[in-house]
Amino acid sequence: MTKNVVITGASSGIGAALAHEFASRGYNIALCARRIEKLESLKNTLSEKHSNITVMTAALDVNELDTVPTVLSKIKSSLGNLDIVIANAGITGVRRTGSGDLTIDKNILQTNLFGAIATIDAAVAIFREQGFGQIVGMSSFSAFRGIPGSAAYSASKAALTNYLQAVGTELFRKKDIKVTVIHPGFIRTEIDDNIDKFPFVIDADKAARTMVNAIEKGKSDVVVPSWPWAILRSVMPKLPESVVAKIF
Ligand SMILES: NC(=O)c1ccc[n+]([C@@H]2O[C@H](COP(=O)([O-])OP(=O)(O)OC[C@H]3O[C@@H](n4cnc5c(N)ncnc54)[C@H](OP(=O)(O)O)[C@@H]3O)[C@@H](O)[C@H]2O)c1
Repeated sequence: MTKNVVITGASSGIGAALAHEFASRGYNIALCARRIEKLESLKNTLSEKHSNITVMTAALDVNELDTVPTVLSKIKSSLGNLDIVIANAGITGVRRTGSGDLTIDKNILQTNLFGAIATIDAAVAIFREQGFGQIVGMSSFSAFRGIPGSAAYSASKAALTNYLQAVGTELFRKKDIKVTVIHPGFIRTEIDDNIDKFPFVIDADKAARTMVNAIEKGKSDVVVPSWPWAILRSVMPKLPESVVAKIF
């Protein structure tokens, strides 16, 4: 039977690339984000390319926490059930600590942590009711070690990883409900126009292929690309500040 996947933050970058990859593997897809015109354009492209699948769009601002369960329930009603929900929506922002204005930090934590939690919670409620499902959270390599200039972003992703680990343990007896946390390295997307100044950058479509392979295998923890980030994961917490400052 055709599986159904919901992707938040599907209007660009990793979310859109995941939509292309899932579509090529025959999944029905619900595309969610705030920029509905981008979602409609992606829906048209996917529907033209893959006539065998259903693609739907849903306007969703994950910061409107109370609306997230309603949007997911409506998608479930349309598609019949939800097999995979990907909490991918996220923002970044650079701030020098000590400026006194916490707006950027608050927005980042609101979207990346509370928005993701709202998505995870709503998805797990549906999974518990239908008896199966897979929640996927888009964390970051910055969960391994706080990145200078991105303290709030790093904290949001470390917290998200931790949150999903706890949810995975909460659900471990429910064999048909899976929890996956993905830690991307640097992926070329709209999130940072200057990403190519960083090392080991890969394109979003390549990242999406690896991510979907891992999701289909039901892995609980994924690092993409694995080289060099899987090794850096254990090294990064031990690096001296001077080295981290030089790299980032
Ligand atoms: N690119 C990287 O190097 C990298 C590395 C590690 C982790 N990540 C994570 O990967 C995820 C995707 O990022 P990306 O690189 O693909 O960036 P992107 O191209 O900027 O995509 C971000 C997506 O999130 C959506 N979004 C932002 N705020 C939202 C909100 N309040 N409600 C709903 N959707 C919202 C955006 O859609 P709308 O603006 O249309 O709402 C957009 O579709 C993020 O969680 C990011 O932190 C990226």
